[in-house]
Amino acid sequence: PGVRPLIAGNWKMHGSLAETASLAGAVREGAAKAGAAELLVCPPFPYIHLVAGQGGLAVGGQDCHAAAKGAHTGDVAAAMLKDIGASYVILGHSERRADHAESDRAVRAKAEAALAAGLTPIVCVGESEAQRLAGEAEPVVTGQLDGSLPDGFAQAGGVVAYEPVWAIGTGRTPTEPDIAAIHAAIRANLAKRFGAAGQGLRILYGGSVKPGNAKAILALPHVDGALVGGASLVAADFVAIAAAA
Ligand code: G3H
Repeated sequence: PGVRPLIAGNWKMHGSLAETASLAGAVREGAAKAGAAELLVCPPFPYIHLVAGQGGLAVGGQDCHAAAKGAHTGDVAAAMLKDIGASYVILGHSERRADHAESDRAVRAKAEAALAAGLTPIVCVGESEAQRLAGEAEPVVTGQLDGSLPDGFAQAGGVVAYEPVWAIGTGRTPTEPDIAAIHAAIRANLAKRFGAAGQGLRILYGGSVKPGNAKAILALPHVDGALVGGASLVAADFVAIAAAA
């Protein structure tokens, strides 16, 4: 019952042309075993065309610019991603917030551009370890939602990804009750802002999701999928996570 889970692989800045083609092929072959979950992979920009448009897998970008086009050297427009066969775009990942000083306001502008281009934004939020230890995880996350989500987000079926920064690539995760508490707070925030439309939006958990912990995490209330980094680079692991959804 409920929404179709989304299992998204964020390949970050990994892989060569050959490695990407082989990983995509292996994920596609395994997709039959993935059950009901929707599978999404987000390759680096130069490799999106290798994976897109072949069926079985949805494809997304890892970022886009807030403008529709223009003099923005090195950037990529949402419409270009759409054009090449992407249907999703990850926005406001903590690595972009840190490496490129992306603010909530900037993420919101990018999400608006994604919606205008017909892409589904996956907006990432999550507290740092210091914020978690200070007991501020929930207000930090809801503050990021308030600042980062555009008004049209719910109507377009936008996705929220909760990724505690300290759980990314570390092998550490919050406890199950802690994950459930933040997801419930995100759901309440979405419902308050968007009404009934906010109830059906998918909220993903990300941060050291592996085949061994996927089942327990994905069974938690208001966890509607996962955003997977490291484990998404191993096709068998990614498929096993999807099968647990
Ligand atoms: O976008 C994915 C996340 O940053 C999670 O990465 O699964 O390697 O911890 P990870």
